[in-house]
Amino acid sequence: MNIQEAKFLMSNSRVEDCPPPTLPEYAFIGRSNVGKSSLINMLTGQKGLAKTSSLPGKTQLINHFLINSTWYLVDLPGYGYARVSKESRVKWSRMINYYLRKRENLACVFVLLDSRHAPQAVDLEFMEQLGSEGVPFVMVFTKADKQSGTRTQQNVAAYLETMEQTWDEVPRHFVTSAEEKTGREEVLQFIAEVNQQLAQAADNT
Ligand code: GTP
Ligand code: MG
Repeated sequence: MNIQEAKFLMSNSRVEDCPPPTLPEYAFIGRSNVGKSSLINMLTGQKGLAKTSSLPGKTQLINHFLINSTWYLVDLPGYGYARVSKESRVKWSRMINYYLRKRENLACVFVLLDSRHAPQAVDLEFMEQLGSEGVPFVMVFTKADKQSGTRTQQNVAAYLETMEQTWDEVPRHFVTSAEEKTGREEVLQFIAEVNQQLAQAADNT
């Protein structure tokens, strides 16, 4: 899929204020600093579109980007950053859980996982929660440029094995690097396929 146009629309803390739920939407979520905003910039080919930082906690709101005037990419704040007050954590949890439950045009959630690490409890728990609420998601391993391909494959395999212990069917996964543009075509192709399925389903009603 080609991205002809990608533009920032708005930032919100309330789901009610988000753009009308008339277009399919893909949300990026994962631990603070895992590379959500960087991946959005890599996919759209616009370096400064989503704000990134080497310090965790950069993205604080629900950010909507309109792509090719036909679908939304959404950048969300991260979870699991230790140096965050209890109050902020509760606020995050309320905003995100409400968003995940209420956003009716949410086509798929991309759960970002750092390809350098072994499976982390906070990520496994978050995916369990998505599963129990029936929110469709795929896994995206980030920062693959940070180590050798072999090492990345080992970490991904360990993750998938852990998932297999609790999931009948482990959701699809992608390996990416925002730095080297790895996985760009695969992720965009996946989005194109889901967009097409949704359009067909709408035609049949
Ligand atoms: P929050 O908004 O704080 O939750 O973080 P985020 O998940 O949006 O992470 P962000 O995209 O801001 O990236 C965090 C840091 O990781 C930045 O310093 C990025 O340059 C770096 N980074 C992100 N993706 C990659 C990648 O694929 N490779 C490398 N080497 N660095 C990356
Ligand atoms: Mg961010």
